[in-house]
Amino acid sequence: MDKRFAVVLAAGQGTRMKSKLYKVLHPVCGKPMVEHVVDEALKLSLAKLVTIVGHGAEDVKKQLGEKSEYALQAEQLGTAHAVKQAKPFLTGEKGVTIVICGDTPLLTAETMEAMLKEHKEKDAKATILTAVADDPAGYGRIIRSESGAVQKIVEHKDASDQERLVKEINTGTYCFDNEALFRVIEQVSNDNVQGEYYLPDVIEILKNEGETVAAYQTGNFQETLGVNDRVALSQAELFMKQRINKRHMQNGVSLIDPMNTYISPEAVIGSDTVIYPGTVIKGQVQIGEDSIIGPHSEIENSSIGSRTVIKQSVVNNSKVGNDVNIGPFAHIRPESTIGNEVKIGNFVEVKKTQFGDRSKASHLSYVGDAEVGADVNLGCGSITVNYDGKNKFLTKIEDGAFIGCNSNLVAPVTVGKGAYVAAGSTVTEDVPGEALAIARARQVNKDDYVKKIHKKQS
Ligand code: UD1
Ligand code: MG
Repeated sequence: MDKRFAVVLAAGQGTRMKSKLYKVLHPVCGKPMVEHVVDEALKLSLAKLVTIVGHGAEDVKKQLGEKSEYALQAEQLGTAHAVKQAKPFLTGEKGVTIVICGDTPLLTAETMEAMLKEHKEKDAKATILTAVADDPAGYGRIIRSESGAVQKIVEHKDASDQERLVKEINTGTYCFDNEALFRVIEQVSNDNVQGEYYLPDVIEILKNEGETVAAYQTGNFQETLGVNDRVALSQAELFMKQRINKRHMQNGVSLIDPMNTYISPEAVIGSDTVIYPGTVIKGQVQIGEDSIIGPHSEIENSSIGSRTVIKQSVVNNSKVGNDVNIGPFAHIRPESTIGNEVKIGNFVEVKKTQFGDRSKASHLSYVGDAEVGADVNLGCGSITVNYDGKNKFLTKIEDGAFIGCNSNLVAPVTVGKGAYVAAGSTVTEDVPGEALAIARARQVNKDDYVKKIHKKQS
């Protein structure tokens, strides 16, 4: 196989987005557009991938990290000028160079493979990935001769009325013979409406040199959508969502209402899990089999076991075991580990807490900075008092302990194995195992008090 290289164009500001965020960093299903592009390109067994950065260079580099090498385009003079910046990385290399725009997030490795195949079969110096658009406005048009051979690409702004009728568009994805590309790119001029050096002009130059130029037309326009504004961004979001959701359904996950289910590209979900509407699954999430998630739940960077039910709740950066019941209206905050067969009920907040197997906090509790053993019952309204305004302290509740309703456990404090805390207690000292702690005022009944008061008042 020829050596393969890729150049990803990501230096533009993206003026049409009207955003403080650089265009290629706008997320589609939670992942920046340029990262979608780079991750797909990396499936092509590349010898080298160079991303052209300019606007927001540091942010783009931070996002992509080690996945790419970087060339800086200090001034954005057009797509040909952008590709030229990769010269120090690719000059003299023999092989094929794929050029992709950082704003085509739906493009798949399979389609790029199909383009590369056509390129090889035609023994071409350049192959363009084209598509047919219902509304081609804004895209470069593919101009073919009467015999059907590609002659050139004309940008929308430079096109004649006749040329604008053409519905076959340049997707902005190409592959080139590497040496030919860097030879002819020097000849591209900026004599056009936008005063930019257009990469598509390379096609006409090669053609005029008598070289073979090919085009691979994909039947899937959606995949080639170029995102230049927020309208296209929302379309990309929709198409990507449909693609992700279809994959999960094909893998045996039930989505009750796929239009209203939002799953990150990285999420892994086991079969027979059911996801109800209004659920948002963000980042690195794993969910086991036979679980029920939603309606209206948000799971972010967390792992969830099998046969677990999460309703109307939020789980963030945490680990939840098997056969767990969470919600409705629970909040599992970062660094929590919830064991198996646990119940976290309505209006319970858990933060940075280990919660042992079969333990329960069924109603209205705050459990933060705690180590809760197995088989613990936290009664309604139990609170770990973990913060003194400056520092956070640990509460330990050992196996089998029973915390009565409306108790405050003032950390640092330990409730020993099997101990009881009486309802309404404010516990400030350790409770030994098997003991009962009562930390509340003793009840006083004042007989006939009401009568006396009424008499005084009359
Ligand atoms: C480009 C193509 C057009 C094609 C369309 C497909 C050109 C001249 N036009 O138009 O034929 O139909 O993509 O989506 O190539 N960029 C740089 N440096 C620059 C200019 C752009 O890195 O100096 C990057 C941008 O960040 C972007 C990509 O190149 O990721 C494409 O630029 P954009 O301005 O979006 O070009 P389009 O007008 O969409
Ligand atoms: Mg574009």
